Amino acid sequence: MKKISVIGAGNVGATAAQRLAGKQLAEEVVLIDIIEGVPQGKGLDIWESSPVELFDTKVTGTNDYKDTANSELIIITAGLARKPGMSRDDLLAANAKIVKDVTEKAAEYSPQSILIVVSNPLDVMSYVALKVSGFEKNRVIGMAGILDTARFRLFIAEALNVSVSDINAMVLGGHGDSMVPLIRYSTVSGIPISELLPKKKIDELVLRARNGGIEIVNYLKTGSAYYAPSSAAVEMADAIVKNRKRILPCAAWLEGEYGLDGVFCGVPVKLGSKGIEQIIELKLTDEEMAALKKSADEVAVNIKKLKL
Ligand code: NAI
Ligand code: 2OP
Repeated sequence: MKKISVIGAGNVGATAAQRLAGKQLAEEVVLIDIIEGVPQGKGLDIWESSPVELFDTKVTGTNDYKDTANSELIIITAGLARKPGMSRDDLLAANAKIVKDVTEKAAEYSPQSILIVVSNPLDVMSYVALKVSGFEKNRVIGMAGILDTARFRLFIAEALNVSVSDINAMVLGGHGDSMVPLIRYSTVSGIPISELLPKKKIDELVLRARNGGIEIVNYLKTGSAYYAPSSAAVEMADAIVKNRKRILPCAAWLEGEYGLDGVFCGVPVKLGSKGIEQIIELKLTDEEMAALKKSADEVAVNIKKLKL
């Protein structure tokens, strides 16, 4: 891929740019932010690590969307991060304005790009990007499920004292307190976790995964998680850039899948060079479906609050 742009040179954006360059996922990574000097400084700093880290990706920073022109992939991380006591939904109005602004500009210069949205509240901001860009639904994808799943996978591995490499899990729903970890699809080398852990312990792990974002906020106090979130966004970029057809939980615009219509919601998708190439519909139990619907309904309520 020739060019990937990352909008927002804050914690998630800069770390994502570093990871994109380190994996050489594009010839050029452009970091853009509203603050003058910050993307330029961070971009150059990352680029200056290239002789040591041995990557040939050029990393630049800018405040001008012209420099993002013809990006094939754009990762949107612009926005305010959560502070202690602040829910993701508190961010709604402020970040909707920011995401609208950056999407308009980015889409104008890169009309063929694929958008990965990271800004919170994730599912609603993905809707803002879809609506404002006017892109087809396969080209606007929200990052949350990989992060939520990574947290759940780590906690399972820690509880069992086994390698994270052997843990598969699936967390669906909106990126909020009502996210839906699917226990039946959570396995250790194919063995369902319910055969390895008591229900009480699994419930504890589910709760910790649900609260994974706030756990980090409470430690950091002045910001939210960014190492794992940037890893998750770059895993999506990797699947798209290399057309890998990975099956990953991502926020997708649903039009009838899972009985949900007109809402962004975390579901398993096939990611390749066209973005979302397929939405995988799992056969959920009534209980799982009710939890997914509840989570999607919360997103829909917030979408309705927007004045776009
Ligand atoms: P941060 O505060 O470190 O960085 C945000 C950056 O956006 C700042 O540099 C700021 O100047 C920039 N920005 C603000 N308005 C802008 C505009 N109009 N144009 C360009 N840039 C603009 O925050 P951080 O930690 O990087 O988080 C970014 C966003 O990602 C937050 O909304 C956060 O809640 C969200 N997030 C979402 C996750 C997910 O799972 N989807 C995980 C982690 C963070
Ligand atoms: C997280 O889950 C803040 O949404 C972000 O860490």
